Amino acid sequence: MTEAAPHVPVLLQPILDAVAPLSGTWIDGTMGAGGYSRALLEAGASHLIGLDRDPLAHDMAAAWGAPYGDRLQTVKTVFSRMDEVATGVDGVVLDLGVSSMQLDRADRGFSFLRDGPLDMRMGDDGLTAADIVNDAPEGMLADILHRYGEERAARRIARAIIRTRTETPFVSTLQLAETVAANLPRPKPGQSHPATRSFQAIRIAVNDEFGELAEGLQAAERALAPGGWLAVVTFHSVEDRAVKRFLAARSDAGGGGSRHLPERAARAPAFEVVGKAIGPTEAEVAANPRARSARLRVARRTDAPAGTVTRRELGLPEAVISKGMS
Ligand SMILES: C[S@@+](CC[C@H](N)C(=O)[O-])C[C@H]1O[C@@H](n2cnc3c(N)ncnc32)[C@H](O)[C@@H]1O
Repeated sequence: MTEAAPHVPVLLQPILDAVAPLSGTWIDGTMGAGGYSRALLEAGASHLIGLDRDPLAHDMAAAWGAPYGDRLQTVKTVFSRMDEVATGVDGVVLDLGVSSMQLDRADRGFSFLRDGPLDMRMGDDGLTAADIVNDAPEGMLADILHRYGEERAARRIARAIIRTRTETPFVSTLQLAETVAANLPRPKPGQSHPATRSFQAIRIAVNDEFGELAEGLQAAERALAPGGWLAVVTFHSVEDRAVKRFLAARSDAGGGGSRHLPERAARAPAFEVVGKAIGPTEAEVAANPRARSARLRVARRTDAPAGTVTRRELGLPEAVISKGMS
């Protein structure tokens, strides 16, 4: 179907081990190529609700899902809205970020190595990367690069983008990658491509990934039945820290509260944390280098009422992006 290699599910076996024996209705909030969804159905879930914002994931599910009949339901939506699709579920899994198919397909515009339209949307609506790069004021661009990409040269790169776009608007990934690279030192052997941090930052902005994570964790809390499982796989330390803080805030693990979460401990815990964060084995990293930075955290829902946490409490930075930017 595509030139892309199939997506290899990451940390799948540790999830299955943690939640065994598996039963009932599960939500896979990031269906992708269906690696988790299929495994959950095979391991004993009676029903699986697969969510994904990307139409490609749904095209793929139409092919792999047929044998499961009405045990599989798919909905094209964002996972921050999962509790509008179902509540009282027995488990929720989230596997954050982009899939290999999305990264590898030049026409999706995620890659600084393959030329494609400057898009970067996981779904099919909202602002594209080109909208942001061509329209955002310099300060907003610098904020995005700094807060979402931890790019130290954010101001220099933002200035260079503004200079370039007044001559020629950005339309392609390589055009942006070249502008970024031209304003950073040449990488030493073994260092990542100079545009890595800027592309990550713009992708996070385009897809509101940090907003989705903060809202998605709370939506999972509302969607889960007492005793239901939450399993979240992250690939960036900022996201893993947010999941850790969320679970600390919503469980007993916060103890007497903390500097970040002072008033939380007084409430009845909505989750029990199960074990510590789990990373990949050496064998998994050797077989699938994408697994290198993956972290799994698992928790179990109690019968306490669902609550709220703020993005700030989770330590997720925010760069304000508004329509009609310039
Ligand atoms: C890492 S892949 C998941 C791969 C999947 N676990 C598998 O084994 O095939 C992440 C998927 O989640 C989707 N996604 C990311 N953020 C989302 C969100 N906020 N709402 C819905 N889908 C999202 C992406 O479009 C992508 O298809």
